[in-house]
Amino acid sequence: MSHTPQPPTASWAAGHTTVLGEGPPQAPLMLVGEQPGDAEDRQGRPFVGPAGRLLDRALLAAGLDRAACYLTNAVKHFKFTQRGARRIHQKPDSGDIALYRPFLLREVDAVAPRLIVALGATAAQGLLGRKIGVLKLRGQFLSGPDDRPMLLTVHPSFLLRLPDPAMQEEEYQRFVRELALAKGRVF
Ligand code: URA
Repeated sequence: MSHTPQPPTASWAAGHTTVLGEGPPQAPLMLVGEQPGDAEDRQGRPFVGPAGRLLDRALLAAGLDRAACYLTNAVKHFKFTQRGARRIHQKPDSGDIALYRPFLLREVDAVAPRLIVALGATAAQGLLGRKIGVLKLRGQFLSGPDDRPMLLTVHPSFLLRLPDPAMQEEEYQRFVRELALAKGRVF
């Protein structure tokens, strides 16, 4: 490993829990997110907060069963700044992503999914080891780790952050269509 785990710095802190992936150990479809959020850190499970609820809804709409998928994150700790009682999400940087990359690649190796869905830029960087433009390449099947097929789409938090409800609905439907592409490829 080229990076050594560092203790939290003065400007941000790491969550308490190492949130590992969950799902069938040989799931044909693996979904990779960014990092656990506040709820995931408290519960020790991936995608159980607001972004997870949106993902669950989209998976259902795409005809996918969450229980049949393996869900994990590129970065396994919640990174945040404390503001009063609130823990404000901090985007992982390239060092954080590189630190956890060997774990993510091991997970991919162990599960050996037929298809990986990269949810957003951090997931894609963790899987590929380089930055790519998500909004340009979303909806495409790319070559992932070990030449495994990888479908790139947006992160559900991207949808939650869109200010305009009409745009949010449009982007949500596009997200569902992209997940349906994954379903068509695997199931
Ligand atoms: N966002 C992620 O990327 N992963 C989670 O587990 C929760 C929110």
